[in-house]
Amino acid sequence: MTKGYHEPVLAGEIIELLVRRPGLYIDGTLGGGGHSLAMLQELQRKGFDAGSLVIGIDQDACALSAAREKLAPFGENAVAVKGNFSQIAEIAGRVCGERGFDASAVGILLDLGVSSAQIDTPERGFSYMHHGPLDMRMDSGSPTSAADIVNAMSQRELASLFFRYGEEPRSRSIARDIVDYREKYGALSRTEELAGIIRQGQRRPDLAIKTLSRVFQALRIEVNRELDVLGEALDEGASLLCPEGRLAVISYHSLEDRMVKVFFADKSRSDWGPKSVGLREPLVKAGYRVVTRKAVSAGAQEVSMNPRSRSARLRVLEKLDEGVRCEPA
Ligand SMILES: C[S@@+](CC[C@H](N)C(=O)[O-])C[C@H]1O[C@@H](n2cnc3c(N)ncnc32)[C@H](O)[C@@H]1O
Repeated sequence: MTKGYHEPVLAGEIIELLVRRPGLYIDGTLGGGGHSLAMLQELQRKGFDAGSLVIGIDQDACALSAAREKLAPFGENAVAVKGNFSQIAEIAGRVCGERGFDASAVGILLDLGVSSAQIDTPERGFSYMHHGPLDMRMDSGSPTSAADIVNAMSQRELASLFFRYGEEPRSRSIARDIVDYREKYGALSRTEELAGIIRQGQRRPDLAIKTLSRVFQALRIEVNRELDVLGEALDEGASLLCPEGRLAVISYHSLEDRMVKVFFADKSRSDWGPKSVGLREPLVKAGYRVVTRKAVSAGAQEVSMNPRSRSARLRVLEKLDEGVRCEPA
């Protein structure tokens, strides 16, 4: 494995559900390139590599250099691009345009959240378990860090943030403790300062861990606008699919998973108008179907080898075939 990057989660399931024919594949969350590598190997194994291209996107420059090294043996079949997956359509259009490749995708993957390499690097400030700057930016060039948010928001805004994005029941008292701390000692700048404030307010160590992860999660979501960009990527990703093309999303917490589930349900629902009319055909036929009726989770063996997979939930959406198939370029 590339240093700091763990085994890709649910890789076997992703390969089985996504890699079914040659064409364009987009890995919107390239990370260390584990899933892209697995997809490229499978394309090669099936003899599909001649007509295939895998575009990997990540907003983190460190992830890109790790992935580029890993994917180098695949030459022209793989390209790694710095960007946000909310711009998936623009990126795919540009890369495919440069290569004369059809920009409709056979498979798109979003493996959401942060990588183990990001969490395990104290200087990135993602984890309450390390001492580091209170940063949490996946894209180090973006303007707002977690410290900026913690220091600029009012007590009310902080409480609402921890409740909305962390589902933290003690959101109000944590927000009050932060504001008291700011008044006494000035602006916060370190992960250990924030973790200390939370630990002090929650005397039971078992509950403190849960609170710490919920508050850090809430801040991370806000810093990286994670739910906003996910909404944009789902819209763009679904539109980019060719008939029978599939969009696979792995989420790690209920806020993301709920969003994906509702989006997939909406996309796959036909409009039958008011029930009383009793139509034989829907007014608007659904253009998609949900492939995974229930979210797919990791099995016990994968969880024991890769604890990160414990909370993973995979859902897959397929664009229905209306008689047009995309052929490899
Ligand atoms: C869970 S890791 C992906 C790991 C990857 N599947 C692998 O096999 O190594 C998530 C990655 O997606 C990136 N990421 C998260 N949100 C993103 C976004 N909106 N746009 C681009 N990259 C994003 C993160 O920087 C991180 O490297």
